[in-house]
Amino acid sequence: MSKKTFYVTTPIYYPSGRLHIGHTYTTVAADAIARFKRFTGYDVRFLTGTDEHGQKIQTVANDKGLSEIEYLDGMIADIKDLWKTMDISYDDFIRTTQSRHKDVVQKIFKTLFDQGDIYKSEYEGWYCTPCESFWTETQLKEGELCPDCSRKVTKAKEEAYFFKLSKYKDRLIKYYEEHSDICYPKSRMNEMLNNFLNDDLQDLCVSRTSFDWGIKVPFDPKHVIYVWIDALSNYITSLGYLTDDESNFNKYWPADVHIVGKEIMRFHSIIWPALLMALDLPLPKKVFGHGWILFSEDKMSKSKGNVVYPEPLIERYGIDSLKYFLLREFTFGQDGNYTNKNFLTRLNSDLANDLGNLVSRTAKMVEKYNDKNLPANKVSGSFHDELKEVALNTHKDVENYMNELDFSNALESIWKLIRRCNKYIDETTPWLLIKDESKKDELDTVLYNLCESIRIAAVLISPIMNETANKIFGHLGITDDKDLLTFDSTKEFGLLKEGTIIEKGQNLFNRLDIEKEIEFLEELFAPKEEDNGEYKEEIVHKEQVTIDDFAKLEFRVGKVLEGKKHPKADKLLVFKIKVGNEERQIVSGISKFYDPKELEGKKVIVVCNLKPVKLRGELSEGMILAAFRSDDSKLELPFVTDIEDGCTVG
Ligand code: MSP
Repeated sequence: MSKKTFYVTTPIYYPSGRLHIGHTYTTVAADAIARFKRFTGYDVRFLTGTDEHGQKIQTVANDKGLSEIEYLDGMIADIKDLWKTMDISYDDFIRTTQSRHKDVVQKIFKTLFDQGDIYKSEYEGWYCTPCESFWTETQLKEGELCPDCSRKVTKAKEEAYFFKLSKYKDRLIKYYEEHSDICYPKSRMNEMLNNFLNDDLQDLCVSRTSFDWGIKVPFDPKHVIYVWIDALSNYITSLGYLTDDESNFNKYWPADVHIVGKEIMRFHSIIWPALLMALDLPLPKKVFGHGWILFSEDKMSKSKGNVVYPEPLIERYGIDSLKYFLLREFTFGQDGNYTNKNFLTRLNSDLANDLGNLVSRTAKMVEKYNDKNLPANKVSGSFHDELKEVALNTHKDVENYMNELDFSNALESIWKLIRRCNKYIDETTPWLLIKDESKKDELDTVLYNLCESIRIAAVLISPIMNETANKIFGHLGITDDKDLLTFDSTKEFGLLKEGTIIEKGQNLFNRLDIEKEIEFLEELFAPKEEDNGEYKEEIVHKEQVTIDDFAKLEFRVGKVLEGKKHPKADKLLVFKIKVGNEERQIVSGISKFYDPKELEGKKVIVVCNLKPVKLRGELSEGMILAAFRSDDSKLELPFVTDIEDGCTVG
């Protein structure tokens, strides 16, 4: 019999900036459910990826003097590195710039156009010329100002394609009435029905002509397909929909759950189902809109300087500490506030005290009282039976909660068992039992029951805290017997074999000095402003390269002959640069820091063998090296004074 399938997705992330713990939260949750489903016998497909089109990406890339794809390749490598560090078990990573995605999105667009669900009309809105962006009335800042650059906007019209969303309103309402469990948590379902579907549902603008970094409308290439058809389709393009091989699509679609943040719930529960209805495809079984992680009660944002990044937390406290905290501290459907204190307190109380201590105390007792050998379980009665009952019931609660994506309560159920074990030690007082020869069987039973309960707890945490679970299996001497590590094995008590060697090993989690750690974290996450002239760059190293890798790059001294503003992009400057006997044009995103004329005559360092690219229509044949702060508050060009242009730098 073939296995039951389970298809879970994260949103595809915008690589316009570094991912923070808010993004990490979505992915960690999706990973936990994917692992849990595999663990309970499902054939799982877990999809994540990146949403790479749109004006913002184009602007960010070009400001850095890079082509869009050069910029994106770097960002995507960093995102994949992060997921690797965090041991995220995705099965597919889709990039919307991949041809497997672009080709199918064009087919979808054409199908919808041919059948009359997409039509051409005019889009009217407020236009910001420097940003080349359309805004709706409600998005504007007071005084008809652009929400991005705060400059005056003007009313404008643009030819655009529209999707007939309004046509699907009644079908959507009916669908929701018949499938009351599609949106989770339930409050979001009511929000959808009351606020959005009962409103006047407007047709949706699905193309743009004001920028060109996107998938072209196949029969009208002046237009690019605007964000939602492009982004949402990733869930089916990654399965091979409309390709020669639709086996994954047939196997996994419809998705069992799309996990998304609450602000994109509307797109996933109105626009996406309407698109699927138009394509005559089944709708996802569930869309779960989780809450936000706030910082000081506010949404994290780089510009507000209140962002917490995962890497330094992982480096200092370990992957499992972060995963545990994210899934235990916050109720998945609701907003929650991140504070360093909450984070550190969880680590100390739940991980170091409850779990870490239990494992080390137990192992130490087996080591001391029974020469590292696991004794047999000999007696029954009161405390012993109570503990066994808790241990044997835990898997049911865990499974129920995990299936509801209630990670916090799933973990709490395991911690109930862990705390019950700690209480059992206090109740049975093994340190007194050892002193009385006649209590040997009682003592053996206590040691056995503790180790077996720890095994069950460790197996149950393994989909969320894989690394910790494996360490515990090491302490319990379970190396070869995989039958002791399955989900089914948590339904039985007594599987750990007598005589197994139990090792105390190293502490699972060290107790932290909370005050000291708070100080450390506050400094780490403090907004990187010029406090007393002191700026600390957070250093995240890239992968090491060999000297041969480095030698592939060609750096030379270049003399700026002429500098001018880019005709189409405010942040870019265009330079004519002399490198020995050649002259080249280089576009650089430094207009915020330098006047183009002031650089004329100066000698800079140029990367000469980068493939030429066009940046907003201007050819760029290389890159000028600069030192800059990652928050974009300062940039400096290193100048060469006594060496002639054309000479090598290395
Ligand atoms: N590209 C779109 C999604 C398209 S899916 C077809 C997008 N990307 S995003 O990078 O801006 O956000 C991705 C996810 O990260 C969203 O689900 C969002 O809610 C989540 N988070 C970003 N910041 C967050 C917090 N501070 N807290 C929790 N999650 C948040 O939207």
